[in-house]
Amino acid sequence: MTDTDLIAAARAAALKAYAPYSRFSVGCAIESVDGEIVTGGNMENACYRLGLCAEVSALTLAQATFGLDRVARIAVAGGDGSGDQLTGESAVTPCGGCRQSILEAAQLSGRDVEILCASGDGQTVERHTIGALLPHGFGPAILTDAG
Ligand code: THU
Repeated sequence: MTDTDLIAAARAAALKAYAPYSRFSVGCAIESVDGEIVTGGNMENACYRLGLCAEVSALTLAQATFGLDRVARIAVAGGDGSGDQLTGESAVTPCGGCRQSILEAAQLSGRDVEILCASGDGQTVERHTIGALLPHGFGPAILTDAG
């Protein structure tokens, strides 16, 4: 799948988010090493702190579909999803908690997972790796090293 297609999948997923409180819709698309795609959107709750980020929604489905250890590439996009197209001009990078969740997949696979961070309108794209977004992170490799 091309970068553009993966970002389009993330933007489409954002339109299915449940974000009535922040009105900020986020979508995430995850590609496996075999080219399978899963997506997720943020899901908020009246008890605000229980809201789930799009990345965690998508990672949950990735685990159920092909396994976290097969995550190859991730696209994230966010903005105003109230219309038929996601809008917004600022690239959305994963929050700190989501970086930690992505690091889990990266350390399981031994791959420095690439993350395409797109604006809602898809026009602005930043390309990062989880290693760059979360340097010196705590992950399963550290627990394994303890024996
Ligand atoms: N959000 C995500 O889904 N992913 C992120 O990486 C950043 C924030 C969601 C959480 C909340 O529902 C909304 O965006 C506003 O913070």
